[in-house]
Amino acid sequence: MIKDIQERILKLKKENDVCILAHCYQTHDILEVADFVGDSFGLAQQAAKAPNKTVMMCGVRFMAETVKILCPEKKVLLPEAEAGCPMAEQLDREMLLQLKERYPGYAVVAYINTTAELKTLCDVCVTSSSAKKIIERMPEEKILFIPDKNLGGFIAKQCPEKDIVTVQGCCPTHARFTAKDVDRAKAAHPNALLLVHPECSAEVVDKADFVGSTTEIMSYAKKSNKSEFIIGTENSIVQHLGIDCPEKRFYALSKDFICHNMQLTKLVSVLHCLEGVGGEEIVLDEQTRLAAKRSIDRMLELGNG
Ligand code: 13P
Ligand code: SF4
Repeated sequence: MIKDIQERILKLKKENDVCILAHCYQTHDILEVADFVGDSFGLAQQAAKAPNKTVMMCGVRFMAETVKILCPEKKVLLPEAEAGCPMAEQLDREMLLQLKERYPGYAVVAYINTTAELKTLCDVCVTSSSAKKIIERMPEEKILFIPDKNLGGFIAKQCPEKDIVTVQGCCPTHARFTAKDVDRAKAAHPNALLLVHPECSAEVVDKADFVGSTTEIMSYAKKSNKSEFIIGTENSIVQHLGIDCPEKRFYALSKDFICHNMQLTKLVSVLHCLEGVGGEEIVLDEQTRLAAKRSIDRMLELGNG
């Protein structure tokens, strides 16, 4: 049955010249039909060079908006219209304008998990895999980092030469796990290394053996000569690693480590969207797109290479 749906997807995407981009948090059956799988930075890089007329983003809304910002001439599809990132909605335009007034002279660095509207007011975007490199390369010393205080705090510790101010915002999926959850998982799997995403709270990150983006966690586990790992990010990564490395053991930090927004998109959502009976085409007004593009262009410029 899954194979049948996948075959129909592959046929339709070829007939209609569609490029399927998938974030690593999508289920394995979706990754198998994608042209590219990656973290937020890799997806933005790929969007900028996809040759197809249509790009389908299997992930959440801000990722599809990033594609549209970079490729206005392409049709950009989000297979499940409800798939948003709650962190991206935590700050609105008014709140950011107030923050900018409170911190005059600070460059605004936005985690890419923000709306296109908010990006129009930011100097540069970053992702979890590119934030340190980009902030180090920026000439500005004073930085207002929005909206993830956990990622911002993690980067601030690594860039002591910068004055980094963070605000109250976080990923509800990652931020709720505590040192106690880590202690419980380590007691159950004493030989396992702990690999976590920097959206986790500082008390979890402090206990980790490795901290990185979704693709960085996967490649660390694949290359490691160790054989057991506790995964401190969305549980889809546990599934992918188990399939890619059957000789190793992967344990979830918690069985509840689930991003319900990312998991809204099912294989059948991809099929229905290709058939034109589901999903949403992303539309941005040109003024917003151009203003938001500056911060994405600067991210690609400073983050590449
Ligand atoms: P990555 O850039 O690490 O893939 O993170 C995206 C995300 O939303 C993590 O929660
Ligand atoms: Fe947003 Fe968190 Fe889900 Fe990532 S895991 S998409 S940051 S809610």
